Amino acid sequence: MHLTRLALTDFRSYAELSLELGPGVTTFSGPNGEGKTNLVEAIGYLATLGSHRVATDAPLVRRGADRAVLRAAVTGAQGSALVEIELNPGRANRVRLNRAPMPRPRDILGTLRTVLFAPEDLALVKGDPGERRRFLDELLTATAPRYAGVRADYERVLRQRTALLKSAGSKGHLRGAARESMTATLDAWDAQLARAGAPLLAGRMRLVAALRPHLTAAYEAVSGGPADGASGMYYRSSALNTDEFDDASAPETAPLEKALLKALAGVRSNELDRGVCLAGPHRDELELSIGAMPTRGYASHGESWSLALALRLASFALLREGREDPVLILDDVFAELDAGRRDRLATLVAGAEQVLITAAVPADVPEVLAGLRFTVRASVVARAG
Ligand SMILES: Nc1ncnc2c1ncn2[C@@H]1O[C@H](COP(=O)(O)OP(=O)(O)OP(=O)(O)O)[C@@H](O)[C@H]1O
Ligand SMILES: [Mg+2]
Repeated sequence: MHLTRLALTDFRSYAELSLELGPGVTTFSGPNGEGKTNLVEAIGYLATLGSHRVATDAPLVRRGADRAVLRAAVTGAQGSALVEIELNPGRANRVRLNRAPMPRPRDILGTLRTVLFAPEDLALVKGDPGERRRFLDELLTATAPRYAGVRADYERVLRQRTALLKSAGSKGHLRGAARESMTATLDAWDAQLARAGAPLLAGRMRLVAALRPHLTAAYEAVSGGPADGASGMYYRSSALNTDEFDDASAPETAPLEKALLKALAGVRSNELDRGVCLAGPHRDELELSIGAMPTRGYASHGESWSLALALRLASFALLREGREDPVLILDDVFAELDAGRRDRLATLVAGAEQVLITAAVPADVPEVLAGLRFTVRASVVARAG
């Protein structure tokens, strides 16, 4: 699929923008701070209903304005679609698909599919486990939008169970009927957490198995061979040993639910002491490695950057399998790569249906990716040359 038009009102530094786009490669270049990333952030938001840079919507609205509007026209195998989002920080956002209001914003997920690589992705390799869980969950939702609901359910149950653990813990040693009733209530929430967690865990395990070969190939393609060793990924669950599930590439939900329940029983008293939920998908880790070494704490800056990029390229490869291409967006990727890596990346992405590239220095973008060129200055986007 590809974007044919992007229009913004009061988004970040853009008061008003209307941009025609087409398939193939498009590059946006301009000095630092002129609005390049703001542009791709808007496209990412239209695809995922979230920003890759901030967790709340307030910074996305132009200073002085009270709301922002984002619009994208998309053409793909399903025909053409118009996605519109009105950001109202502090109030509900409004989402429309082909001009029809969507009561549930997440129902537009899948209309525009993107894979966005940005400098912030270094945190995928260097950051906390939460960054990698979010990566998995967002990719899961991109492969199948129903996972937005699975995630929301799990998070709701987790919040409620955690609140209950806190209040139970603060009551100290309950006795008699009060204790029995608290135990029964916690049992019920264990069951709910296991039921909500199992499909999320199954989805992540399946995803990691499907992504692994793509990651190895992408890392090898970017790094130019196994000089520093092949990259690997392993899903470490806080509740169970994923190796014990015969087929981690297609795990069944029922045994995972049972195993989660058992793990929860095992940590119950510890949980009551600490007032936190100690087992479940929210405590899991996606372990990344290069050669025999874990990346966190060991990998060089260039290796970490290449691996973060490889995670996105692998996502792209997975998402296009048997389906149309998502839009590939590369924010500021070339400046950090040596000449060999730049050229290999260029060859790798040249065949994608639509590639949007930003660069502060246009010369950093290899010749084969010239494509349609725009300059971005003071949030004005103009055709170059
Ligand atoms: N809500 C907002 N209202 C007004 N201006 C904003 C808002 N949010 C960010 N900006 C401005 O947008 C500019 C940053 O734009 P952006 O991140 O797109 O730069 P860039 O062209 O990608 O730069 P670099 O090459 O350094 O990555 C900053 O000058 C910042 O002050
Ligand atoms: Mg930028």
